[in-house]
Amino acid sequence: KAPVTTQRLLRMKADGEKIAVVTSYDASFTCLLEDAGVDVLLVGDSLGMVVQGHDSTLPVTLDDMVYHGACVARTAKQALRVVDMPFMSYATVSQALDSAARMMREGGAHMVKLEGGELFYKTVSALTQHGIPVCGHLGLTPQSVHQLGGYRVQGRDEEAARRLLDEAVGLEQAGALMLVLECVPAVLAKQVSERLQIPVIGIGAGVDCDGQVMVLYDMLGITPGKRPKFSHNFLEQGRDIPAALKAYVEAVKAKRFPAPEQTLA
Ligand code: KIV
Ligand code: NA
Repeated sequence: KAPVTTQRLLRMKADGEKIAVVTSYDASFTCLLEDAGVDVLLVGDSLGMVVQGHDSTLPVTLDDMVYHGACVARTAKQALRVVDMPFMSYATVSQALDSAARMMREGGAHMVKLEGGELFYKTVSALTQHGIPVCGHLGLTPQSVHQLGGYRVQGRDEEAARRLLDEAVGLEQAGALMLVLECVPAVLAKQVSERLQIPVIGIGAGVDCDGQVMVLYDMLGITPGKRPKFSHNFLEQGRDIPAALKAYVEAVKAKRFPAPEQTLA
């Protein structure tokens, strides 16, 4: 199969084909995820929690992301690889350029992802002008968990919803080629998806986004402690791991995931 490109993702959105995204942190799962037909692999800084055992993503370093990005890249063949810029690795434009350069050179990234809106328009624009594709991330942005006061739904009141929509448009205008929306009401995510040309990938954002992303370990039901309400264990019904990953991809493509019980209002 031909490698997935940013152009292909834009076409998928235009054609109404849902984009299946999963986090991956290592070589072996990368093979299984690609065999299951996942379009985009996200080397997420969620690895700080599910792999490293921290209680937030804040301790994750640039070296950690480069390491896991490289592990994923060694066995990946066709999926587009997005690597998260970790906490405080993009505080200035020049730091963001340096961090992203390492992600691309050493971490095997095709695209980098950063959390935040207006504050980062200049950064997104600078990265884009240097040929580095950027994915935005709005709504619940886990690197700001202490500022937000916990992992909770964002964009619920009218003012917050309007600001989120404005920032989504702003990121697109700055050159972002994809946007993750985390933990926002389904109606707002639908509005954003309809408004933007670029693919909007939801997690806890309802079925009307252009694609879905899930944390691999949540999908397999092996994340210790409590899992988010919007996640679903696909390793049920006696499936093995390859079958569970395929079931997820099929459910996303058929718009059966997220179902109403995994949707936030
Ligand atoms: O780090 C991560 O896994 C993410 C997804 C939840 C979008 O950013
Ligand atoms: Na992340």
